[in-house]
Amino acid sequence: ANKFVIIGGGSTQSPSILEVLRQRSADLDMNQLVLYDTDEERVSLLGQYTKMYYKETGSPVHVSYTTNLEEALQDADFLFMQIRPGLNKQRAIDEKICIRNGVIGQETCGLGGFSFAMRVIPDIIAIIKKVKQICPNAWILNYTNPEAILSEAIYREFPEAKVICICDMPISIEGAIAQYFHKDLKDITFKYFGMNHFGWWTSMIDENGKDLLPQLREDVQSGKIDTLAQWNDETLDDQYWIDTYKRMITIFKRFPEYFPNCYLQYYLMPDVMMAESDVNFTRGDWVMQGREKRIFTECRRVLKAGTAKGSSLNSGVHGNYIVDIANAIIHNTRERFTVNQKNNGAISNFDTDAVVEVPAYIGSMGAETISIGKIPTFHKGLMELQKAYEKRTVDAALSGSYQVALEAVVLNKTIPDYHVGKKVLDELYEANKEYWPEL
Ligand code: G6P
Ligand code: MN
Repeated sequence: ANKFVIIGGGSTQSPSILEVLRQRSADLDMNQLVLYDTDEERVSLLGQYTKMYYKETGSPVHVSYTTNLEEALQDADFLFMQIRPGLNKQRAIDEKICIRNGVIGQETCGLGGFSFAMRVIPDIIAIIKKVKQICPNAWILNYTNPEAILSEAIYREFPEAKVICICDMPISIEGAIAQYFHKDLKDITFKYFGMNHFGWWTSMIDENGKDLLPQLREDVQSGKIDTLAQWNDETLDDQYWIDTYKRMITIFKRFPEYFPNCYLQYYLMPDVMMAESDVNFTRGDWVMQGREKRIFTECRRVLKAGTAKGSSLNSGVHGNYIVDIANAIIHNTRERFTVNQKNNGAISNFDTDAVVEVPAYIGSMGAETISIGKIPTFHKGLMELQKAYEKRTVDAALSGSYQVALEAVVLNKTIPDYHVGKKVLDELYEANKEYWPEL
């Protein structure tokens, strides 16, 4: 039987994972589920809710919650990590510092990602060290952001660790593409390369062996479609995603060779992103005032009512993706998922030691990446700059060197020059004294 632990269980990204785990617990042979978090209030709200909800829906799984990491890790088999030191409060502070200085303010791209990385790398390293002592055979599936930088830090510090760093963005976009073509997602084989939140699809082969990318390109070039938003049914009530799925098509129209991950909007359409950002109401504010308020209000209501009847958690891509990967490991299915792993030659003309995001077949031995081959100069050039920035950010977090941090910041494509970079760095450092390593 398997014990699953959610590290960062108090996150409002947990509900979809909790629901998928509940529905599929028999397949996963899950008999124990622990929500662990450093935030007592959040984890107890979600933890009590989940206990009640599992019990009332007849789940045989034993659910508990704790703020004690050692206790959570004892005999664990699967660790789903999604932590956020400083919560969305700190996310919004970073976004605002960046925007006020005229640069992209986002939690994974630009210096918002840099700041988040400085907060999260020390904590993740401490957690994985504990895992190695307490439950060295457990698999860690990491959703924690900024995944690109974090995966670089994790695989550098723990080359042998059983960690797979993942993101639900590629599969979400693939889902929209499948729907656009009226196909079952499982019938399309996608080929993708890049880094997390920074990649492209080179082909999408359907069940008849036909590549759908040329058709998609033609439909975009001819103006038949200017967005994929209506085929992304999970976030149709969220204007950010509606706009994002449209900008993704704009980028593809401008650079039609490969199909872009939507996060490239921050690097390839920074003018539009800046014009649309509101320093008084950022994405972090939206998450705090929207999703977080809604979920914790519902937890409180259910706890007060003493029953979860009439309440439910929503399953979705976020939960299904991570659970599908755990399932692939447990049952050695060797299904294909796009994940973050050491390049090791998968992209033949890119740094062998760098972490990249590419498809891999996943089974009980972990992820075995596919071969991509050579990538074009345009994509390679963008990736090399971004990778240098990512590596220098890891160096800064591990060394605590201000000079290295400054190099990282200046390498970021969203930073126009030294003066702006230094100013934003200094302001972020000041606002994150409690969380960053001392520089
Ligand atoms: C996608 C990305 C995640 C990111 C999330 C942001 O799922 O893949 O990396 O965390 O969007 O969601 P939020 O609603 O917090 O802005
Ligand atoms: Mn992601």
